[in-house]
This record gives sequence, structure tokens and C-alpha cells, in this order.
Amino acid sequence: MIHSFWAYLVVLAVLAATINGIIGLVGKKEYQPKDFRISLFALIVTHIQLVIGIIIFFVSPLGLQSILTNGMGEVMGDSFLRLYAVEHPMMMIITIVFVTMGYSKHKKKLVSGPKFKMLAIFYTLGLLCLLSRIPWSQWLNL
Ligand code: HEM
Repeated sequence: MIHSFWAYLVVLAVLAATINGIIGLVGKKEYQPKDFRISLFALIVTHIQLVIGIIIFFVSPLGLQSILTNGMGEVMGDSFLRLYAVEHPMMMIITIVFVTMGYSKHKKKLVSGPKFKMLAIFYTLGLLCLLSRIPWSQWLNL
């Protein structure tokens, strides 16, 4: 339940930080402390979700247990099982890698333009990975 609720915060935080980075880059804005806080918030929120996700992977019947009981062949052949046990965990880890790279690369740049560029590129890549492999229909009961 925590993982599902925290996911709202993750989607909102990464979306906000991505839009903020793009607006800063396109609008040639001056980098402000609020830009730092928005990107840091997205980093923290995603890292907390990573820890919760890893724990869930070992506890949930849809994570490791699913691979052990069904076998990798069966899991890979079933789109529902594959999404939860393989695609979702992998893509979410890739998301967090992109967000972390964007955050650390933007911190190393000294002027506004390159800072926003790093945020815009890496947070956008992270956002696309994030949105691509959330189990939307189960999460939102669609
Ligand atoms: C950006 C980070 C992440 C987000 C936004 C996210 C989001 C979600 C959401 C919304 C669900 C619930 C879907 C449902 O209601 O059935 C879910 C389930 C799950 N997630 Fe994540 N997740 C993230 C990271 C991870 C990571 C890193 C792992 C594992 C390494 C992971 C493993 C799982 C597993 C195993 C489930 C199924 C839990 C169950 O219903 O028993 N997640 N995730």
C-alpha cells in the first residue's frame, strides 16, 4: 500500500522537476535555489520508492516468488507476470538511474543553461521510463 501511495508522489515529483527543467532551458531562465529544491525533492522521493520497491520485490507474490514458483519461462511468457516481476522493477531502476544522473550532472555545471539542460535531458528520459512501465490499469483500477 505504501508503495502504491508513494507512487503518486513519485509521478508528480518527477513530472514537476522535468517540466521545471524544460521551462528553465527553453526560457533561458536564471537557475534559482527553488530549481535545486525541486530536482532534489524528485531525487529523494524516487530513492525512497527504490528502497520500498526492493523490499516489496522480495516480499510480494508478484516479485521474486513469482519467478521462483512459476519459473522464468512462464513469467516471461505471461504479460501480467512479466510486467510485475521483470519489466516494472527493471524500468523503475533505470528511471532512478536517469534521475540520479541528471541530478548529479546538473550539480557539477556552474552556469544556468547547462544546469537546466542536464535536468531537462535526464529527467525527461527518467519520466518516459517511469510512465512506460507502471502497472497503470491495476494501480488505478481501470
Ligand atoms: C520509480 C519507482 C517506482 C514506482 C513509481 C512504482 C510504482 C508501483 C505501483 C503504482 C505499483 C502498484 C501496482 C498495483 O496496484 O498493482 C507497484 C507495484 C510493485 N512494484 Fe513498484 N514502483 C517503483 C519502483 C519499484 C522497484 C524499484 C521495484 C523492485 C525492485 C518495484 C517492485 C514492485 C512490485 C514487485 C510490485 C507488485 C506489488 C504487489 O502488488 O504485490 N517497484 N509499483
